Amino acid sequence: MAGVEKSLQDPNHGELPDLRNSKGHGFHCYKHDGVYFFVLPPQMLKGAHPADRIKSVKKAQLKDDDIIICAYPKCGTHWLWEVIEMLISGTLQHQKDVKETRMFEFIGKDGMEALPPRRVFNTHLPLRMLPKQVVEKKIKCIQIMRNPKDACVSFFNHCKNIPKPLGYEGDFAEFAEAFLTGKIPFGSYSTYLQTWKDEVAAAPELPTLDMYYEDMKMDPATSVKKVARFLGLASSDKFCEDVADACSFTKMKKVDQEMKSGLPMKMWEDGSGGTFYRKGEIGDWKNWFTVAQSERFDQLWNKKMKDSGFEFTYTPV
Ligand code: A3P
Repeated sequence: MAGVEKSLQDPNHGELPDLRNSKGHGFHCYKHDGVYFFVLPPQMLKGAHPADRIKSVKKAQLKDDDIIICAYPKCGTHWLWEVIEMLISGTLQHQKDVKETRMFEFIGKDGMEALPPRRVFNTHLPLRMLPKQVVEKKIKCIQIMRNPKDACVSFFNHCKNIPKPLGYEGDFAEFAEAFLTGKIPFGSYSTYLQTWKDEVAAAPELPTLDMYYEDMKMDPATSVKKVARFLGLASSDKFCEDVADACSFTKMKKVDQEMKSGLPMKMWEDGSGGTFYRKGEIGDWKNWFTVAQSERFDQLWNKKMKDSGFEFTYTPV
């Protein structure tokens, strides 16, 4: 729905935009610095004022060797995190914690500063909302991207499986429309990517690496080596190949089912919130988009992104 967005004000969250479509389906979000965030249930907030926690991230003190995975939702953060942790530890040990324990939006400044080095953080926030020290200390940032149609399908399945108030009640066609128009948590993917590109261009001294989910999927060992090189690690080719194998979708899904702890909500503990390891494929979008929906998606996406320089793979090659 084009036009002026209607909003309410709430003392705990600030601006609460109305993101519902004509069927009354939409996300319950608050808006901070131009970005939409899930209005989380109190048990996930642990007492913190939600917008204050996001604001606190900017002031967090970082360590020189911190690493940050920056990504739009559902583009492969869990996968990349596991790869990086293995590379820096030099072992094939999987993480017992869930990735939210390292996510800026969940842990805020206090949680970030309390973690021992070497820290591998993750976030869906744009660069302007990250700690000021990211640019000052030239913190290594890795952006992982995924073709937007698979990201959309993955995000839909993620949100559809979560019970209210976080979950999404509309069908896939409605979600795809919200995804394209940015009426979802973290806003539109095209805006996220354009913003990332512009903000990084304005901080040329920042060491960044662009990774693509599809490259990781089609040639995991080469991707792992690329990450190791960027991080300045002397990992052997054999070790990188072993990391790639230990982080295959099948192995990570098994680990997730058997040993993850620290889940942010009961619904993920009992499985009712769905899984972060659904299919792990390139091209699943073909099972969800009709031809007409796919054409409309291409049209709107290309209109915004045609000169952006981001090149996506939509089908495995
Ligand atoms: P699908 O829903 O398409 O299966 P994020 O970690 O950013 O939340 O992304 C989740 C997506 O990455 C899910 O996509 C998930 O299955 C996929 N994924 C997670 N680990 C993976 C792996 N080791 N290999 C391939 N895909 C993986």
